[in-house]
Amino acid sequence: MLQTAVQPAVVRRARVADAPAIQHLITTFAERDEMLHRSLGEIYENIRDFYVAEDEDGRILGCGALHVCWAHLAEIKSLAVSEAAQGRGIGKQIVVNCVEEARELGLRTVFALTYRPEFFARVGFRVVDKATLPHKVWNECLRCPKFVGCTEIAVVYDLALTATLPYSLPML
Ligand SMILES: CC(C)(COP(=O)(O)OP(=O)(O)OC[C@H]1O[C@@H](n2cnc3c(N)ncnc32)[C@H](O)[C@@H]1OP(=O)(O)O)[C@@H](O)C(=O)NCCC(=O)NCCS
Repeated sequence: MLQTAVQPAVVRRARVADAPAIQHLITTFAERDEMLHRSLGEIYENIRDFYVAEDEDGRILGCGALHVCWAHLAEIKSLAVSEAAQGRGIGKQIVVNCVEEARELGLRTVFALTYRPEFFARVGFRVVDKATLPHKVWNECLRCPKFVGCTEIAVVYDLALTATLPYSLPML
């Protein structure tokens, strides 16, 4: 039986030229209400927050951002892996890169608001009551049409309690 060759992918810091591909990825899932839309302007302004996963042909397969919110707190935002590339460890590696950057920055906690808590649990996050997050993190939520009755789940990773993550995943 013929098998489709799967190209390896690397996770790297985003470059300005990646912004349209990042927006395309996010839009795919935002149109299904699985994550928030991001304008191209927002992505350019925050491009230094982003990581991307890229295959050998330069195609962007995944993205995710680490956004510092407050003295000890950062959020993982806009995490998305193209459907064809899911299940290969790419999402996990993007999260690992974000968490390790947060550690280098001296942050104590990384959180995410997500409909995929099981995925984050696989990388070492734990579910918390949203009310335990500081008010600062709700700035963006106030602008979201789904704010009232939001079903996103808060997950956190406590850097103070953990050693460096042991992951450096071979991505098939
Ligand atoms: C959630 C998402 C980023 C996961 O990316 P991915 O590259 O497919 O995930 P990985 O291959 O790195 O999976 C890592 C681990 O999580 C598990 N996992 C992945 N998605 C999962 C899910 N939806 N439920 C439970 N476990 C999941 C995998 O089985 C794997 O487990 P393992 O470590 O035991 O092998 C991807 O499915 C996606 O982009 N979804 C749509 C957008 C979205 O919901 N983004 C999250 C917004 S916060």
